[in-house]
Amino acid sequence: MLNNRRKFLKKSFSNSFLAIVGWESMISLLSSFSLHENNLTENVNINFEQKPLPYAYNALEDCIDATTMEIHYTKHAAAYAKNLNEALIAEKVQKEISLEKILANISKYSVKMRNNAGGHFNHELFWQCMQPKTINNLPKDNILLEINKSFGDFAAFKKLFSDAGKSRFGSGWVWLVKDESGKLKITSTANQDNPLMDLKEIEIKGSPILCLDVWEHAYYLKYQNKRADYIEQWWNLVNWNFVEKRLSIK
Ligand SMILES: [Fe+2]
Repeated sequence: MLNNRRKFLKKSFSNSFLAIVGWESMISLLSSFSLHENNLTENVNINFEQKPLPYAYNALEDCIDATTMEIHYTKHAAAYAKNLNEALIAEKVQKEISLEKILANISKYSVKMRNNAGGHFNHELFWQCMQPKTINNLPKDNILLEINKSFGDFAAFKKLFSDAGKSRFGSGWVWLVKDESGKLKITSTANQDNPLMDLKEIEIKGSPILCLDVWEHAYYLKYQNKRADYIEQWWNLVNWNFVEKRLSIK
């Protein structure tokens, strides 16, 4: 009898709670819990503001110079964050919605939202994909196993990824993504598009594991037109521990 009463009260409370907060908020809440379970507080969807750069502007020398990093972070990336927040207000988007969810429905929003939600997400992820230069910087653990499974070996993967960056016409990004089946794939997107977007231009969709900015603003001061040299140096900076964490997100 007492047990039945407890069950009734528990069920009533659950139903009332869901009615008040709504299913969408509940799902968002659960998503944030799962991110913390994965120890991914550095995930990019916590808010729409720029997070502090995880290293000093000069920490990536001699692969990326301090001036490039400072201008990239404080001017280019800051503008995407500012313009994203303007678009959110203009289009009356609630900040409770995750950035990933906006990107997954980007076809329903303005071009301004597309460019700046993409720009903000892409850069926040990009900063965390890098760390100060490491000699013999190679993946290990699960990410290495998955790379070998999908591309044969690391050298083959590196070549495919680098070639995607060299051949991207104009400005854009290169991505390593995990698709719906869990398979790793390499793709490239134009401008500030990314593989989360529900757009016909996005050839390969998936969860971004690693990204590389091949806009000229990312390298022009040091490398001028030599994008290939920038890409080759960038491999010394990849934060494989972070990539491993991204891989573990379900
Ligand atoms: Fe950039």
